[in-house]
Amino acid sequence: MTPAGELLAEEIRRGGPVPFRRFMQVALYHPEHGYYRRRRDPFGKAGDFFTAEQIQPVFGVLMAARIRRLYREMGEPSGFTVVELGAGRREMAEAFAEWNYVPVDIDSGELPPAFAGVVFSNEFFDALPVDAAIYQGGGFRERRVAFDGARFRWETGGPVPPGVDAFLRRYFLPPEEERLYEAGLESLAWIERAARSLREGYMLTIDYGYTRAESLRFPSGTLMGYRRHTALDDVLEDPGARDITAHVNFTALEEAGAAHGLRKESFETLAQTLLAAGEPDQFAAALGSADPQENLRRRMQLKTLLFGMGETFRVLLQRRTGPPGRPSTHL
Ligand SMILES: C[S@@+](CC[C@H](N)C(=O)[O-])C[C@H]1O[C@@H](n2cnc3c(N)ncnc32)[C@H](O)[C@@H]1O
Repeated sequence: MTPAGELLAEEIRRGGPVPFRRFMQVALYHPEHGYYRRRRDPFGKAGDFFTAEQIQPVFGVLMAARIRRLYREMGEPSGFTVVELGAGRREMAEAFAEWNYVPVDIDSGELPPAFAGVVFSNEFFDALPVDAAIYQGGGFRERRVAFDGARFRWETGGPVPPGVDAFLRRYFLPPEEERLYEAGLESLAWIERAARSLREGYMLTIDYGYTRAESLRFPSGTLMGYRRHTALDDVLEDPGARDITAHVNFTALEEAGAAHGLRKESFETLAQTLLAAGEPDQFAAALGSADPQENLRRRMQLKTLLFGMGETFRVLLQRRTGPPGRPSTHL
């Protein structure tokens, strides 16, 4: 049993099955034993997954080109700041060095108050703990995590809390019996926080996920575990030793953003964003290197980004319009 598993098992022995959100919170973010808090580095070849951000310098050069365009459109305001949510290993630091770059992660960095610039994130929202639910007997019921002495297992609990119910009714198609769902309430809280601190500028969110209409494709929900580059369906095994993700509900980000003064500018694939960013100079800045070996390496990087990740990942661009919204009654 993993140390995070021991803690969860003990909590369940004392208080009964826990909401999945609690399980995910401990598994990923327990200060000592959580997956993202342990000493072992989960990123890269020897780790469990690659992200687009690790494909440097090509990803960095192209995203910086995209942000430079936004900077110009805003009239090049002084103090232009790029805040990165879930900055991880700070892979973007070099690419964003021409601006004030503020990396925010679980125990470092903070959203600055009233800034002009961009709130950037890559695979941040998919890592936030979610509530899990099943629609049964005409209502949403909580999917909780029980422990049978040896293994963690799913258990259906009572009705979901009102906030979860509101999320599932608002951002999904009308519910169907026996279908599984996830509700990302924390993502709404982050959208609200970001909207509040962005005085002027954009929110640029890269992740994989679905819209309300596309949610049809996921009757079994979207929870996934990752270990050593293999996707695993059983997210309850080895808490703390594997990553857990939930696809992002982009309709929720879009509509919660709109309620707080962030209007959708575009929603496209990562490939579309990268192609548009590289087009003006025919990818010269991204690929340019006198060294043929390095040039070849960068071409491979561009290929991986466009064809390996480009269609799976989406980019939501939202723009702050008008003053920050009033305190939320959204959920
Ligand atoms: C999948 S990683 C992505 C890291 C990086 N953006 C990349 O693409 O390589 C998700 C990151 O979000 C961070 N994160 C999760 N919850 C957070 C929170 N509440 N506040 C700040 N960062 C958080 C994690 O610590 C982790 O570094």
